[in-house]
Amino acid sequence: MSGLSEIIDEVLSLVKTSRIFKDRKILLPDYVPDELPHREEQIRKLASILVQVYRGEKPSNVFIYGLTGTGKTAVTKFVLNNLHKRFPDTFRYIYVNTRNSDTPYRILADILEGLGVRVPFTGISTAELFKRLMSQLRSIKYVLIIVLDEIDAMVKKHGDDLLYRLTRVNSELGSPKISIIGITNDVKFIDTLDPRVKSSLSDEELVFPPYNADELRDILWRRAKSGFVEGAVGEDVISLCAALAARDHGDARRALDLLRVAGEIAEREGRNVVTTADVERARLEIERDRVFEIVTTLPLHSKLVLLAVIQGSKSGKSLTTGEVYELYTKLAKSLGLEVITQRRVSDILNELDMVGILSAKVVNRGRYGKTKEVKLAVPVETLVKALDSTVKELDGI
Ligand SMILES: Nc1ncnc2c1ncn2[C@@H]1O[C@H](COP(=O)(O)OP(=O)(O)O)[C@@H](O)[C@H]1O
Ligand SMILES: [Mg+2]
Repeated sequence: MSGLSEIIDEVLSLVKTSRIFKDRKILLPDYVPDELPHREEQIRKLASILVQVYRGEKPSNVFIYGLTGTGKTAVTKFVLNNLHKRFPDTFRYIYVNTRNSDTPYRILADILEGLGVRVPFTGISTAELFKRLMSQLRSIKYVLIIVLDEIDAMVKKHGDDLLYRLTRVNSELGSPKISIIGITNDVKFIDTLDPRVKSSLSDEELVFPPYNADELRDILWRRAKSGFVEGAVGEDVISLCAALAARDHGDARRALDLLRVAGEIAEREGRNVVTTADVERARLEIERDRVFEIVTTLPLHSKLVLLAVIQGSKSGKSLTTGEVYELYTKLAKSLGLEVITQRRVSDILNELDMVGILSAKVVNRGRYGKTKEVKLAVPVETLVKALDSTVKELDGI
């Protein structure tokens, strides 16, 4: 036996004999489980809308919304998979996540590829792609359901033109062949659409409420039974993951992440039981990774604004937008950079608030008018670590 295959065997045997995980992939966010407790109502409603396909008829368009981790993607895939198994000839569906495929070109290319048409990465226009899609759709003999997940991501960048065109396809074809399922985490998003697109997309609407702690516990137990070795996780661990995620707007993804990462920590340390202390460590690890990811991918001036807030927060007090702007200006100038406007800095503060790095609250100061109170929302050490690479990058300027 060669050295390498011995090593591989050894690693495999380690992986196989994990004393924590029976099947780790069951705990990954993209895995679609074969049961989705506490979503019976949404499953029933979606299925009853889509079941039209059984006789080759186009179902209504559906618009689905709810906060992240409320099961929108999982339920949609689950219902479509099951329907497709039952009626393989009368309909097909194509799933596109517009956060990944975030241009009209990429979305059309994904749809065409789903129909078996190869599309070059660049070189043709979006208009030409649309033409190809239309000609392809003319020839199909089944109903096509197009799922546009996280649809707000694309529309925020590129407007709702493509959506408008897609909602018009059936009348252009002269026969109803496609249905659209739009999904968004942003509950206010639908009101930003062109009224014609809005009314067409939301023939039917489906709302996904957040899960409460009991529901999350139930969801976690069922996933844990197939994902973990028996006895590796107990009631206390599941309850803590559920409670933490319930506090965080009832997000099942977060609950599963906590459980999986806690399991990974225990496994890394060669233990066979996951503890609540592992969950606490998992929480910190996940938070750190999230902050790191956000901070390292911020544009340069957003990083400078963040640095300015860190500088100004040393005394522990909150800052006004004006104070942040002053600090930011000093920083930018000292680096010989052109300064952006206070308006833009104020927008950046809002963006950093939205992703949970800062809190920027508008407060009314009576006759002094309104101002923002800016504070850090995550531990400064985490931010500094994430900004470390930036500081090196800035040194090079
Ligand atoms: N009712 C449920 N039962 C089991 N797992 C669930 C349930 N709801 C959500 N999940 C899981 O939680 C994670 C997040 O769900 P997802 O459908 O991606 O949420 P959303 O699309 O609303 O952000 C996925 O791993 C999914 O499988
Ligand atoms: Mg989703």
